Amino acid sequence: MNQHARPDTTPTMQPIPFIDVAGQRRKLGQKIDDAVAKVLDHCQFILGPEVRELEAQLSAFAGVKHTISCASGTDALMLVLLAKGIGPGDAVFCPSFTFAATGETVALVGASPVFVDVEEDTFNMDVASLEKAIGTAKKLGLKPKAIVPVDLFGLPADHDSVAEIAEEHGLFVLDDAAQGFGGVYKDRKIGSIGLAAATSFFPAKPLGCYGDGGAVFTNDDQLAELMRGLRVHGQIPGRPEFSHIGITGRLDTIQAAILIEKLKIFPAEIEARNKVAARYNEKLGQYAIVPRVPEGYTSIWAQYTIRLQPGRRDGLAAALKAEGIPTAIYYAKPPHQHEAYKKFPVAEGGLPVTEKLSHEVISLPMHAYLDEPTQDRIVDAVKRHLTA
Ligand SMILES: Cc1ncc(COP(=O)(O)O)c(C=O)c1O
Repeated sequence: MNQHARPDTTPTMQPIPFIDVAGQRRKLGQKIDDAVAKVLDHCQFILGPEVRELEAQLSAFAGVKHTISCASGTDALMLVLLAKGIGPGDAVFCPSFTFAATGETVALVGASPVFVDVEEDTFNMDVASLEKAIGTAKKLGLKPKAIVPVDLFGLPADHDSVAEIAEEHGLFVLDDAAQGFGGVYKDRKIGSIGLAAATSFFPAKPLGCYGDGGAVFTNDDQLAELMRGLRVHGQIPGRPEFSHIGITGRLDTIQAAILIEKLKIFPAEIEARNKVAARYNEKLGQYAIVPRVPEGYTSIWAQYTIRLQPGRRDGLAAALKAEGIPTAIYYAKPPHQHEAYKKFPVAEGGLPVTEKLSHEVISLPMHAYLDEPTQDRIVDAVKRHLTA
């Protein structure tokens, strides 16, 4: 099942949403309708005033100089790789315990993703495996160029350790913050770490729009200018002709208008998500391996994911489904095991933790509008099944 898959439920009791986009819509109500109506009135559907306004607000939120909004999280990753001229013969290091788009964008620009293992307790890039992967790439004659850590399930990666290795080997860091925007790493907002960071506004993301959308964040003026041009077919501002091959990668003005309204309630939603996660951890800690947030990190809880003994997951999913409680498995089969990615290298020593986790993880409903009685229903069902 991928990040875009709809969780499966066959409710025999009142079904619980996995992510309550409709609950949030009810809360926002008329404000969204008014914001969209304003765009329908001024008709500047492409790069209209709301796009610039949103970009300025996102820059202020993330504490970063430039935000370049774009059509998806995938385009956000692509824009950075294109702007940096990543291509054939280059190696880009990324985890495999993530959504396919992380490695996919590297392959799309003609470079080679080199898959790196993750840590068991944070699900994020393991820097010991990263060092090995750099050696693997060199042995294969590839040129190491970039590291793409992922803030998986909303938890920031170990960015200081990644940065140290990047510096040692002369690589740039592109943070795949599609699941992590809104999180904090040691007083730094996700979005402001690395040469650039990319996020997704897919509706199920913690900050989602009503369609596809994404953004790149950077403090680098030149890179920002280049990416603004690349998202419009390579028409770089101030240049009379196409100097680069780009894409149609803009964020629609209507989506920007919706995001402006959603950004206003995002801080309160982050707080609410953290309360839900803390309550899950407290109530489920003795029945499953619950997520750990290292000191100084704030997770945005894109997913709330527990680990079970191998073999127990399917039974739990089926039992919860029978009670109208959806679950999801991210990622039952990590990309490096898929047909399209099998040809790309993995770090020396393989990805044993990634493969182990893929048999153990299961995600429970998580969103800012999960009230305590509903959460208790989920918790009780999980406990009942795991102790049966
Ligand atoms: C880690 C990660 N990277 C990239 C993406 C791609 O984002 P989008 O679906 O907006 O293209 C996603 C989306 O699920 C993701 O989870």
